[in-house]
Amino acid sequence: MLRSMSTCRICDNPVREFLDFGRQPVSDVFPEPADIGTEHFFRLAVAFCGNCTTVQQVEEVSRDRMFPADYPYRSSGSAFIKQHFQRVAAHYLRTELSGQDAFYVEIGCNDGVMLGAIRDAGVRHLGVDPAEQAAKVASAAGCRVHVGFFEEATAREIRETDGPARLIFSANTISHIAYIDSIFAGAGALLDQGGVFVFEDRYLGDIITHTYFDQIYDEHFYLLSVSSVQAMARRFGFELVDVEPVPTHGGTMRYTTARAGERTPTEAVARWLELEQAQGLWDLSTYEAFAERVRGNCAELKETLARLRADGKSIAGYGATCKSATVLNYCGIGVESIDYITDSTAEKQGRVTPGSHIPIRSPEVFRANYPDYAVLFAWNHAEEVMEKEREFKLSGGRWILYAPDVRTV
Ligand code: SAM
Ligand code: TMP
Repeated sequence: MLRSMSTCRICDNPVREFLDFGRQPVSDVFPEPADIGTEHFFRLAVAFCGNCTTVQQVEEVSRDRMFPADYPYRSSGSAFIKQHFQRVAAHYLRTELSGQDAFYVEIGCNDGVMLGAIRDAGVRHLGVDPAEQAAKVASAAGCRVHVGFFEEATAREIRETDGPARLIFSANTISHIAYIDSIFAGAGALLDQGGVFVFEDRYLGDIITHTYFDQIYDEHFYLLSVSSVQAMARRFGFELVDVEPVPTHGGTMRYTTARAGERTPTEAVARWLELEQAQGLWDLSTYEAFAERVRGNCAELKETLARLRADGKSIAGYGATCKSATVLNYCGIGVESIDYITDSTAEKQGRVTPGSHIPIRSPEVFRANYPDYAVLFAWNHAEEVMEKEREFKLSGGRWILYAPDVRTV
């Protein structure tokens, strides 16, 4: 059942709402122009639990709306992300998966970037993902995929047919799952004795430090931190045994958990807990100050675009990201300011952005006639995009960024 929460999903204590983005659409469903108006909206608001430090959304969106069969996100859309997962796979092939007949399960395998590297090594594997079209890309490449949502029942079925898993891995997915109790129960049922459940997700510390407010959208139900994952793991009979920062998506943390008592926590866990306390991640006032900065950035971005438009400038967006849904709908930015957004994902082209209805065009459209300015909504891929599009700047174009502050480069 979907819940609108005034108590914490992890520890049941009252939570304090600190930022309300108002009415927002499901961020990764891009309507055809003829389907404008069919979007599903919800109230995007985030709250802090002063007891266990978990930052979470107040209203839950149904998983079937967020992750339909034609969910358009593809991990392989970025060369950097592909490289990252190849490195992660190589690491686990040398470590957790090096034993005889190791079995690897991935939650949210999408188009199989990581799964493919595990398959190439001849290791037994299974990806689980409800996004059928993305999953088909993985199975067409020879990976074993179960199309569906990972939850306790799925985990039990997998254990029944394939036996225990040495490693359950998940990237950019666990934070999307409000029903986290079922995920840990599933991991508990599926993991081998001494096996690990590892997940990497956007890191709350980076979101707060850099005012990356657009990392808040429907899918990111939890904004995870070391202290909140420690509380979450404990609540469900697990233990956080290692943490490691990862250089993806503007700041990610990898959390290694194991059944309580099966592994000794590394010194990194204690060190990061101290850092988080010093950063104020355990204090409501930190989140209130963040909310104030968010309101300031949004007002300034809106003004900047309006001023450039008044001067007759053409403006495009780069990357029809989920992040852009929060920025565009919260700031009330539409085609009066941004002519189109370019995106390399074929599934998004020809459609419009949810709620703000800005047309999405291929990179060829962008390159054929550069705008004066481009708002970089895919700022987490800035290096890769700016390198690929260096001609844009050479021909006089300028990028607009809006976090940590609004600036033109
Ligand atoms: N792991 C990939 C990556 O890091 O690039 C994909 C991340 S994508 C943002 C999230 C993926 O999780 C989607 O493909 C979605 O369909 C999948 N997903 C959402 N809920 C899930 C669940 N309960 N079990 C398995 N996959 C899920
Ligand atoms: P993400 O920020 O959620 O990873 O989404 C990035 C979006 O930006 C995705 O729709 C693909 C798109 N993109 C481009 O259009 N060109 C690029 O060079 C890169 C890296 C991503």
